[in-house]
Amino acid sequence: MQKKDIQITQLPKILDRRGNLSIIEELKNVPFEIKRVYWIYDVPGGELRGSHAYKENEEFIVALSGSFDVVLDKGDGSGEQTFPLNRSYYGIYVPPKTWRRMENFSTNSLALILSSTVYTEEDYIFDYNEFIKIKSKERS
Ligand code: TYD
Repeated sequence: MQKKDIQITQLPKILDRRGNLSIIEELKNVPFEIKRVYWIYDVPGGELRGSHAYKENEEFIVALSGSFDVVLDKGDGSGEQTFPLNRSYYGIYVPPKTWRRMENFSTNSLALILSSTVYTEEDYIFDYNEFIKIKSKERS
């Protein structure tokens, strides 16, 4: 997989009557080395997660179970795009400096997030206006 723009990727799946299997390998199915893995679960109905961007961190998000929407804003004026994830074999690559939110979690959904950096609060952009400023500076 190339480091390109935001995209939903179909992961390999091994169909088997005993149960299906899907695979993620770093630098193959995700375009970065995986430094951190976390998951989000037990999300109460109507809750949303995220609403921030990262300066450096790239991520790859999979709905291992159930479904939810990944809502992304590139900060270039093109607005928000909603990517519904509802299969265990789809993932979405989110480049750095992308405003992202996750919402519309189904009951018992399980979100797996693979990250290219270890956790550091300094990497977060929590303020949307600051995010827009950083993005427009990048373009000029
Ligand atoms: P946050 O990234 O804000 O979650 P989300 O974007 O899904 O809403 O993280 C929530 C809390 O968890 C925050 O206090 C930081 C902590 N946290 C870690 O300690 N390590 C991590 O790797 C992550 C992702 C979060």
